[in-house]
Amino acid sequence: MVEKRISPQSSALIGELEVPGDKSISHRAVIFGSLAKGRTKIDHFLDGEDCLRTVDIFQKMGVSIEQQGETVVINSDGADSLIEPKEPLYFGNSGTTARLMIGLLSGLPLFTTIYGDASLSKRPMDRVILPLSDMNATIFGRSGGKLLPLAISGKELQAIQYTLPVKSAQVKSALLLAGLFANGETIITEKAKTRDHTETMLGAFGVKLNVDGNTIRMDGKQSLKPTRIYVPGDISSAAFFLAAAAAKPNSSLVIKKVGLNPTRTGIIDVLMQMGAQIEIRNEERIGGELLGDVKISSSSLKGIEISGDIIPRLIDEIPIIALLATQAKGKTVIKDAEELRVKETDRIAAVVEVLTTLGASVTATKDGMIIEGSQELTGGNISAYNDHRMAMMGAIASFFTKEDIIIDDISSIAISYPSFFEDLKRITTN
Ligand code: S3P
Repeated sequence: MVEKRISPQSSALIGELEVPGDKSISHRAVIFGSLAKGRTKIDHFLDGEDCLRTVDIFQKMGVSIEQQGETVVINSDGADSLIEPKEPLYFGNSGTTARLMIGLLSGLPLFTTIYGDASLSKRPMDRVILPLSDMNATIFGRSGGKLLPLAISGKELQAIQYTLPVKSAQVKSALLLAGLFANGETIITEKAKTRDHTETMLGAFGVKLNVDGNTIRMDGKQSLKPTRIYVPGDISSAAFFLAAAAAKPNSSLVIKKVGLNPTRTGIIDVLMQMGAQIEIRNEERIGGELLGDVKISSSSLKGIEISGDIIPRLIDEIPIIALLATQAKGKTVIKDAEELRVKETDRIAAVVEVLTTLGASVTATKDGMIIEGSQELTGGNISAYNDHRMAMMGAIASFFTKEDIIIDDISSIAISYPSFFEDLKRITTN
């Protein structure tokens, strides 16, 4: 446990910053690079705990991966060369590693057992296991096959046509990874578009797939060709500073080379709808992913309703959006976000508890919350619920409190943003 006391921050957020690499893209780069025969180099990789789990797992399956900070070099003999790990594989807190690897391991001729930390052991895995079972996968798990630990006896799979009942890029990606090794054509349809980094990066690794609206078609038995990946800055990490700068008077901040994939930019849309002043500059596309610089200046904000298809485009940003809503004039209503209940913690309950402790007026609903603005926050003792995004939201709250905030444990921040406090210091003047 690493407790942290933060005094009220009177400073505005000023300057320029590049945030660490995108977590979703970093995981996928390691997975696909390990499946491709040859040398894959990844630049601006996220050197955070979750992504390092993915690196460790492929090393345990015999892939040569050299990781030094933000640079990763993978030399692989391809998917056929992966060896059966001698020990159970540990996924820590990482839901992305878990869901994607369950899909992949189901279709490889290996026996594996996998487990995670207390939080991951509570998160639903049946959302991937059920469709994988339709593909003929053999997976055993706790609680009737719903929870980690799991045992996977990988084998040849049959492609399926599947409409995702949950809005989840992890489930979509698990099925695409299984489909890569399956007989036949995998056809996946989403009701609302979720992040499409898997589809984009499979293309960069030479896999042929067809995306038509919300439907993806991909033939099985395709091999990946090695490539070079640049990971854009993580917009989910940038969101903490963007939100703080939007509401803290006299702020003017530029986040450089941040990922602007439209399936992830719901936060920018919300900030604009709330009245933030945003400019996007220097847009470019690298490896199929859009990135650019985001300039934000503070202004007066108003509450809005956030619901429907935008939710998957900002699902990880809802804790910081809720904090921001306490600083906006009027009510903010968040709906259709029931997925928050099964994140690293129940983020509806956790956000409401933290903001209420800080003196805000927030009500939980079954699929979201209602936040009254604009409110001066007090301060006090809050829990991060061992959830990196809750811990960073708690730290940013100090820009809007009258008294100190004491966060019970900030160690989870290392999952997605190890240099969070150093970076925060660079863009504040006090
Ligand atoms: C992710 C998908 C999302 C997101 C998570 C990363 C991914 O999860 O919340 O942080 O990399 O595919 P779900 O698929 O559960 O929505």
